[in-house]
Amino acid sequence: MPEPMTVSFPPAFLWGAATSAYQIEGAVREGGRTPSIWDTFSHTPGRTAGGDTGDIAVDHYHRYRDDVALMAELGLNAYRFSVSWPRVRPTGRGPAAQAGLDFYRRLVDELLSHGIKPAVTLYHWDLPQELEDAGGWPERDTALRFAEYAQLVGEALGDRVEQWITLNEPWCSAFLGYGSGVHAPGRTEPAATLRAAHHLNLAHGLATQALRSVLPAHGSIAVSLNSQVIRPLTQSPADLAAARRIDDLANGVFHGPILHGAYPATLLEATSSVTDWSYVLDGDLAAINQPLDALGLNYYTPALVSSPESAPKGPRADGHGSSTHSPWPGSEDVAFHQTPGERTAMGWTVEPGGLYDLITRYSREAPGLRLYVTENGAAYDDKPDADGRVHDPERVAYLRAHLAEVHRAIADGADVRGYYLWSLMDNFEWAYGYEKRFGAVYVDYATQERTPKSSALWYASAARTGGLPP
Ligand code: NOJ
Repeated sequence: MPEPMTVSFPPAFLWGAATSAYQIEGAVREGGRTPSIWDTFSHTPGRTAGGDTGDIAVDHYHRYRDDVALMAELGLNAYRFSVSWPRVRPTGRGPAAQAGLDFYRRLVDELLSHGIKPAVTLYHWDLPQELEDAGGWPERDTALRFAEYAQLVGEALGDRVEQWITLNEPWCSAFLGYGSGVHAPGRTEPAATLRAAHHLNLAHGLATQALRSVLPAHGSIAVSLNSQVIRPLTQSPADLAAARRIDDLANGVFHGPILHGAYPATLLEATSSVTDWSYVLDGDLAAINQPLDALGLNYYTPALVSSPESAPKGPRADGHGSSTHSPWPGSEDVAFHQTPGERTAMGWTVEPGGLYDLITRYSREAPGLRLYVTENGAAYDDKPDADGRVHDPERVAYLRAHLAEVHRAIADGADVRGYYLWSLMDNFEWAYGYEKRFGAVYVDYATQERTPKSSALWYASAARTGGLPP
């Protein structure tokens, strides 16, 4: 009998969990915070399931001490959270709100006192509404304001936070926010989508420079991309071309300028009927292409695409919510297919091998950068049993299989330094409201009681042993 293979992660591996401000904090009117685009969007009838909003969310703003204590009990050694822009710089411009900065200082101190390394994301989708009223991400000014905000937070927390992430999933901000409109601000304008993508890239580059000017030398700067694993339905030239077009719009549009200093020529060509890219000014690409220390990868499921010719007619299945507007400017005709296999409550196929493919791709694309899986996880219809416990064997299987792929990538030479489970606890899942539960910790929304699910206990034991328990 062959020996069972023991999986053992590097001793300094970060076993983390991730959240974001609007999804967990609540307290939307406290400490001088002003509305973000997600406050406006979620309060607009018909935009979120059940009209759910983040007004209270899981009340983390008031319960952060208990939440950090829970993380410590679970043996996590890292926590990725986001700072709410309208909480620390209420109008998007102008003076900082000290109450907001103090909240994040207290949170970071609490984490550090429990031996948990903080990783700060500066933008997880909550643009101050005033900046959207002035045009939002399609406007250059938003990128300039973001750099000022980044500097302000860097000055406030740089002495105690080592890991910085500029943007979270800029694809969603641009393509779902301004393309299909299923995310805030809910606009459906193909040209504005690409302008938004460019100004998000610029925001990343300018913020990176601003952070460098205020962080100590050991400060690490990254961006978290939802780099998508795009698979062609068949190997026909037409399907391969469709996959390449979507890959440019999903991935190349961000990693091209950020990692290589240029937009892919094939992207510029394929979108020429939508936009002339004249807002890419001299010097922008150099400003975007800043040296980074690390790259964050968020992964959930791959996409399967084909040319329109090989597509059976039917609803689009790109997994990004329902809208009659396509999020893919210039490639609206590409067909998306349901990938075969078991699915989560989001309808997303479970395909752990996609995470391996993603990590190894970016090992090649970004040699020399440390890699972190900054999000990975699954929603299931979790419910407490009669005994009050929450058993989620599907999530345990999901986590184990994906972590095994992370381990395989490390064994094959990828420099992956950590993994952040999405999410620490159930929370506001954007347009899906509170219907979809991604947490390792169950939240009873009526009482705000937290109950670790069996997956949290499994993950705690993985973190403790540095391996993958059965
Ligand atoms: C990615 C986003 O960053 C996060 O906010 C969201 O909840 C998860 N995906 C699950 O959809």
